[in-house]
Formats: sequence, structure tokens, C-alpha cells
Amino acid sequence: MVRTSLDPTVAWDRYRSEFPIFQSKTYFNTCSLGALSTRVTAAVRQFTDLWEANGAAAWYGPWLGEIERLRARVASLLGASADEIALFPSITAALSAVASAFDGVRRPKIVLSDLEFPTTVYQWRAKESRGITVEMVRSPDTLSVPPERYAHAVDDRTQLLVASHVYFTSGVIQDITALAHIAHDRGAYCLIDAYQATGQLPTDVHAAGVDFLVTGGLKWLLGGPGVAYLYVRREVAQSLQPTAVGWFAHRNQFAFDIQHFEYADGARRFEGGTPAVAAIYAGRAGADLVAEIGLSQIRRRQVELVSLIVDEARRRGLHPRVPRRVEDLAGIVTIPRADPAGVVKALAQRNIIVDFRPGIVRLSPYFYNTPEECERIVAGIAQLETEGLA
Ligand SMILES: Cc1ncc(COP(=O)(O)O)c(C=O)c1O
Repeated sequence: MVRTSLDPTVAWDRYRSEFPIFQSKTYFNTCSLGALSTRVTAAVRQFTDLWEANGAAAWYGPWLGEIERLRARVASLLGASADEIALFPSITAALSAVASAFDGVRRPKIVLSDLEFPTTVYQWRAKESRGITVEMVRSPDTLSVPPERYAHAVDDRTQLLVASHVYFTSGVIQDITALAHIAHDRGAYCLIDAYQATGQLPTDVHAAGVDFLVTGGLKWLLGGPGVAYLYVRREVAQSLQPTAVGWFAHRNQFAFDIQHFEYADGARRFEGGTPAVAAIYAGRAGADLVAEIGLSQIRRRQVELVSLIVDEARRRGLHPRVPRRVEDLAGIVTIPRADPAGVVKALAQRNIIVDFRPGIVRLSPYFYNTPEECERIVAGIAQLETEGLA
């Protein structure tokens, strides 16, 4: 069995102690919702304190400042500049803004895979009655999609190649640099859904060459629901004119000029209306925590925890669904079960929180989990099998 060589340069136990849920639960469901830290609770409290004390004056100073701090923080985690980041309440809203920049006439085709999260597929499916065509590339193994399959599908009628950076039902990491090349070779744009990647994987959007990337606070950025991020490469943003816009997309928002609409520079031209400021405070505190630990340190720990789970699951005959190289896996390990919902329920009765999708149980460790918990959770699933419960 692999024993972890926990990175001694990071005070993992101290970080774990910032998450009260571990006082009562074994939590392995970050791919659904990152655990709540005391810092995020304090940040939301700061938001309500400012509101209580200042009323609308909280906007012109602290709240607008917090929006810009969050934008800069997200940019730093993605290797982007702050002006390349736009803020939204959800991935869906961000995708709708991107979609509104295209007319679907000369390039009506969207290429995506059958492993995408529904929200990124529905965006285009709902437009099929208006001339958009969706070409769905099939995964050969339900784990990942070889980039060559996209190369066959993308052509000179393709507007966008849309793909996950980490697949939500397998945890496998996609080669987004290869996908950006494939899209650009045929004059298409590349849009990456990095919701399951940002926070747990070091990412450099400029080096990868992608045009758009959507991600958010809910999962590995520990900020909870209500805030999502859109990266748009600077030159791409300057060349597009999205139509699903609000007053935050205006070059001079506080001029209140309703006779003319002038786009803001950069990604902000994709933004809509008043953001959910509580979620902005939570999102900033969560993202700051991730940045403080460091993406490389988190990734190293993820590889250790994931390897431990995979080895232990194999040892116990649970047949985890993994790619050939464990390094191609991010912090989601899936184990096929006949009754995954039953497993989740039985484990929850033992205060172990995991998740399921059709046919599989999903375990998603993060830096706050321990090697002992990884072993315990796999043992728990194996035990259910012996008890005839799974
Ligand atoms: C890969 C991925 N994309 C998108 C979403 C959610 O999108 P939205 O913010 O539109 O709910 C999720 C999960 O909630 C996800 O796992």
C-alpha cells in the first residue's frame, strides 16, 4: 500500500481545523460543494456588517473594491490578467453571455463531448431550433475523450470547441492545450469548463492558449454557490460584441448614458447586472485560502490522496475506474456500484459524506482530508459490500 509523504512545508492540520464540518463528518464531496471554512463565514459576516453600518454607501468603496479583489485573485489562479476575468452568478450565465457574441450563421456548429456537465450542453441544445448544430464527440471509455476525436469533428463551420478540463464523472484531466490547437487550426474558438479543475490544478490559460474558460466558487475554490468566473483572452474579448449584457458591461457604468452603449474593455464587456455581493465576499475568501496554500502544493497532495484511495480500492477488489496513469486523475475517484444511491445513504448514516452519479460512487478528496480518512472511506465501502448493503 502507498503511504503518503505529506508535504511537511504546509500545515495541513491547521488548514483542516478551519473547516468545522470535520468535527462531525468525514467529508469527501468537494466535487459537489467545497466545505465551508471559518474564513468564508467571517467574510460573509463582514459583508452584512458593512451593509448594516453603511447602507448603500457600502457599495462605493468596500463592495466594489471586493469585486475587483476577487477578479484579481481569480486571474492570479488562472495565470490571466484581471481585465480578462468577468464575474457571473453561475456557469450558465457566463455561457449565455459568450453565446450571445456569436450569430451562428457562418459557423453554426458547436463541438462538445458526451462527458460534459449538462449545463454546458443545454446552452447549445436549446439553440438547435434556431440553427445551431451540436456535434457530440463520443468518449470511448466514459473516462475521457482523446483529443484526436475532436480533431475529426471540428471543421470550418465550427464556432466553438467546448470541453471540460476535468470530467465531472471520472475526474480525468483533459489536455486543454491540445484542444486549443485543434480549434485554432480550423479557425474555431476553444471554451473550457474548468469548474472541476480550478483550485486543485495549476492552470496557465495563456500558455494553454484557450479563448474562454468558465469556472466558479462552488467546488475547489471553496466559495460556495452564487459566483462564477469567465476568462476571455484579451484579443478575443476586444474582437467580440456580446449582446446579453447589463450595465456592468458598459465602458462608463456610472455615466448612466442610455442613448449610447459602449463596451468596456476586456472581459467585463460580457458582464450583466448587479452581482450577488455576499457570494463575492465568500468567493474571495475561498479563493484566497486556495492561493495561500498554493496550487502546486495542493496538486501534490491531491496526487497523494488520490493514489492512496485508488490503491486501497484495488486492494479491496472495488475496481476503481481510473485512467492508465494515476497522474492523469484529479481529485475525483469513481467506484462502480450496483446501488450507488444506497451506498451514499448508508455511508451518510455513518457520517461519511460522498456522492453518486448513475452507476458510480464519487469520492472527491481535497487538501483538508487525511490519508487515514482515505483508507477509512474505502474500507467503509468494502464493508457495505460484505454486509450485503451495496
Ligand atoms: C463541470 C461542471 N460545470 C458546470 C457546473 C454547474 O454549472 P452552473 O453554475 O450553471 O450550475 C457543474 C456543477 O455544478 C460542473 O461540475
